[in-house]
Amino acid sequence: MSITLPAFTPAQESLFLTLGGRALDSRLPRPFLGDTMADEIITKIGYDLSKFPALTTKMFDSRTKVFDIAVRAKTLDELVRRFVIHHPDAVVLDLGAGLDGRMFRVDPPPTVGWYDVDFAEVVALRPQVLPQPINAHNIGADLTDPDWLNGAPTDRPAVIVADGLIPFLTQDDFVTLLNRLIGHFPSGELAFNAYTTYAIWTLKHARGMAAIAGGVVNPGFNDPHQPERSVDGLKLAGETFLTRAPEVAELSPMLRLTCRLAARSPTVSRLIGTVILRYRF
Ligand SMILES: C[S@@+](CC[C@H](N)C(=O)[O-])C[C@H]1O[C@@H](n2cnc3c(N)ncnc32)[C@H](O)[C@@H]1O
Repeated sequence: MSITLPAFTPAQESLFLTLGGRALDSRLPRPFLGDTMADEIITKIGYDLSKFPALTTKMFDSRTKVFDIAVRAKTLDELVRRFVIHHPDAVVLDLGAGLDGRMFRVDPPPTVGWYDVDFAEVVALRPQVLPQPINAHNIGADLTDPDWLNGAPTDRPAVIVADGLIPFLTQDDFVTLLNRLIGHFPSGELAFNAYTTYAIWTLKHARGMAAIAGGVVNPGFNDPHQPERSVDGLKLAGETFLTRAPEVAELSPMLRLTCRLAARSPTVSRLIGTVILRYRF
C-alpha cells in the first residue's frame, strides 16, 4: 500500500534524501546505523528513490553512498542519548525532523518530552508512518514563524538537534531561530550538521541533488565560531569530523585513505566531509 503525498517544496522533498539514505543503510549486511524503521517508511510510502541520483548512482559503492547520512544521524543520536541520561527531565527538539524516527533509535526515558518540528504538510504524515508515544509531540510549523515554540516548556533543559535543516533557512532566519531557542530554554545543548560555503555550492549544483537545489537558501559558513558571534549565550562545545569517525574503517580502501589523510587537518575535514557542531547555552 502506498500513501499519496502532497506536492512538496524542494525543502520538504529533501526529507526523502536523508530518510532514503538511512533506509539504504539498513539494507547493508553491516549497516552503520541500522534504522530498519526508515526502510519500512520508504516502502510504505512507496517513494521512488531514483529522484535522488546521489543515492542510486552506480558510481559509488553502497557504503560510500550512505556513510555521511547514516553516521551523522548516529552521531546526533549519541549526543541526545548522553544528554537525556544526565537530564531525564529534558526536552528534546528535533528541528526539521521530516519523517525521522530518531526518538525510537535514542529510546529516551518516558520522563523526556520529545518534540519533532517540521512544516504542517510533513508533520501530518508522521502519525501515518511512525508510532506516537505519549511523550512525543509533533509541531507542524514553519520554523521561521515567531510563535511555533509557544507550546514547549520553558523550565526544562533542552537538547536541540537539526539534521539536514540549515541549507533551507536563510542566514537571517537561522540566526533569529537560534536566538529564539536560546531565549526560550534555561540551558541546554544545540547540535547540527554544518555546511561550509563549498558544501552549499555543491548542494546547489550537483546533478544528484537537483530535486532539492531550489530550496537551498543558506550561504553556509566555514568558521564554527560564527554562530557564537550572532547569538548571545551560545558557546561552541565540540566539533566532530566524520573523517575521524571509527566507521571510516568500514569504507572502501580509497575512501578510507582519503578520510585518514583529511582527518589530520580540521580545515580539510571541514572541506571534504560532514561536520557536527555542538554548542552549549
Ligand atoms: C534534509 S531534510 C532532513 C529531515 C530529517 N531531519 C532527517 O534527517 O530525515 C530537511 C527538513 O527540514 C524541513 N524544513 C526546512 N525548512 C523548514 C522550516 N522553515 N520550517 C520547518 N521545517 C523545515 C524540511 O521540511 C525537511 O523535512
